[in-house]
Amino acid sequence: MATSRARRSCLAVPGSSLKMLEKAQGLAADQVFLDLEDAVAPLAKADARKNIVAALNEGDWGGKTRVVRVNDLTTPWTYRDVIETVEGAGSNLDCIMLPKVQTPEHVAWLDLTLTQLEKSLGLRVGGIGIEAQIENARGLVNVDAIAAASPRIETIIFGPADFMASINMRSMVVGALNPDYPGDPYHYILMRILMAARMHDLQAIDGPFLQVRDVDAFREVAKRSAALGFDGKWVLHPGQIDAANEIYSPSQFDYDHAELILDAYEFYTSEAGGRLGAVMLGDEMIDEASRKMAVVMAAKGRAAGMARTSSFTPLDA
Ligand code: GLV
Ligand code: MG
Repeated sequence: MATSRARRSCLAVPGSSLKMLEKAQGLAADQVFLDLEDAVAPLAKADARKNIVAALNEGDWGGKTRVVRVNDLTTPWTYRDVIETVEGAGSNLDCIMLPKVQTPEHVAWLDLTLTQLEKSLGLRVGGIGIEAQIENARGLVNVDAIAAASPRIETIIFGPADFMASINMRSMVVGALNPDYPGDPYHYILMRILMAARMHDLQAIDGPFLQVRDVDAFREVAKRSAALGFDGKWVLHPGQIDAANEIYSPSQFDYDHAELILDAYEFYTSEAGGRLGAVMLGDEMIDEASRKMAVVMAAKGRAAGMARTSSFTPLDA
């Protein structure tokens, strides 16, 4: 499912914390995900479901994308997580996030369960989206099939902490570079996820950075996945939100430049502009491929609410 929901910053909110469920509503994150999985102890899961239903129904989330992360399908909790949250707050919920997805069948199960719930509750069938977290080798190897498993899928998310554990990666600092490896140890995983996401017109989301007080280190990690083309990143602390919103938006220069290319290309390819295919914009030659890159950049800027600071004027006008 192509979706234009903004997800530059995806804030994790433990479902067991009434305080965080309240506070998160006023923060500037594009998305919140109310967690029933790893941030909630087994004995607190039943109460967390109730807290989440109440927070979705009674809270003011101010246009944020509202997601619930359920437990993964190897646990005894998943079906109840889905049924209780959708029965309790299905009309105030945008997506269910399924962690540790390993095969397309996991997604198919969630799709069918959501369809049954939507039918029995009188909700629009297909209205609730799915976010799939890739957190181990099996999930990554199957990521193409997972991305294709349901039209409900909106995002593919990298879960670095679980992933590192699953492949025995020799580092304890999630997302950080390792001085023993002369490259970015996450590059292959990120690109693999990005290709599957783009092939199916989905968003690609980077996972958490756990050193929550070190915003400079967060920025470094986030810039790497943003440079590849990722759409956003998890944030675990209010201090990481502004950095994510900035890093996953285009710079003002790139946004202005993209809008200029679109205007210039539209003009020069027209009758009035001379029906040209490849033209000069300042010192740069632009053609159809430049237009395609500009479309993507301009869309990101518009979704981030950016305003232009320049306008196009034909040279001989
Ligand atoms: C997130 O769920 C992670 O495992 O990094
Ligand atoms: Mg995880």
